[in-house]
Amino acid sequence: MRSVVRIINPYDAGVFPEGDVIFLNSNENPYEPSEDVKRAYIESISRINRYPDANYPMLKKAISEYLGVEVENLALGCGSSELISRVCDIIVEELDKVAIPMPSYSLYLTYAMLRDASLLLPVYDRYNITPEIFEEEKPKLSIICSPNNPTGNTVERRVAEKIAENSEYVLIDEAYVEFAGRSLIDLVWEFDNVIILRSFSKFFGLAGLRIGYAIARKEIVEALEKVRLPFAIPTPGVASAVSAIRSLDYYLEVRKKIVEERERVSKELVRLGFEVYPSEANFILFKADRELFEELLRQGIVVRNLNNLIGLEGNFIRMTIGKREENDRVLKLLESKCRDTPT
Ligand SMILES: Cc1ncc(COP(=O)(O)O)c(C=O)c1O
Repeated sequence: MRSVVRIINPYDAGVFPEGDVIFLNSNENPYEPSEDVKRAYIESISRINRYPDANYPMLKKAISEYLGVEVENLALGCGSSELISRVCDIIVEELDKVAIPMPSYSLYLTYAMLRDASLLLPVYDRYNITPEIFEEEKPKLSIICSPNNPTGNTVERRVAEKIAENSEYVLIDEAYVEFAGRSLIDLVWEFDNVIILRSFSKFFGLAGLRIGYAIARKEIVEALEKVRLPFAIPTPGVASAVSAIRSLDYYLEVRKKIVEERERVSKELVRLGFEVYPSEANFILFKADRELFEELLRQGIVVRNLNNLIGLEGNFIRMTIGKREENDRVLKLLESKCRDTPT
């Protein structure tokens, strides 16, 4: 086995207890799919004896209409996580510099390390990236996340432009972008080295079906598609994703609820005295002891405990925004804890 595999940390997905539990740990959409999506999924089952169409024309057409981009600028993946790996595969050679501002999503490190990259991990307080290190180091690949997991903030446009000017390629992970209302997607037309990464797992709530896509110029898309695992997205996933785009109004309503809740919960956490990171995603990061995580777990509420991540010193909780009643359960418990231990 390659020695690098021994030093890669396994992906930490948190805990998944059984029983009557509220899951606010994986930044999923707490709402069920639209009725049309459920129907499309069920109807597709009669076709699962066949392989899906290898080029996914229906799905690509639906995404192209959703975004207003050409089909030739779209590559598909089995979840956006799989595309992170494929982007590294087509770009990174041994000892190439890969710059990954921290704190951010851990999978970037895994796949860059698997390519034997030379990692640059500049740390930015609250992920407020500044461009100096990119100007100095001229990375082969830079990977930024906007809105960023786990801090929740977006990357400023002028910073992303500077990174694009100084890197051979830039991957911009926009898995949570629909909750932010502003995107860096048009950098694909401004620079020829930018790859935007999107997911059906968050806004469209199809985390269980594993569908992601990338938007980039034609040459990059062709490379990504050439080495994609054939038939990577199963037929029910394709049918559901196409239907989800057709149910856009439903998902916009869902987003409205999630964004309203995000603002309400953030304010409440501040009122309770927590140090809260302003979020443009569907989760909130705040400083809290591990004890609080464990207390929530005892009450059947699972959030993510983040302890001493690279660039995030100390103990934090990352809470996905759930339905109102779920968020209320968390807030009630935190309020009672705060009452017990006045600061
Ligand atoms: C920043 C970021 N990118 C990508 C992903 C992967 O999403 P998926 O593979 O479900 O598309 C996640 C999942 O949590 C994420 O937080």
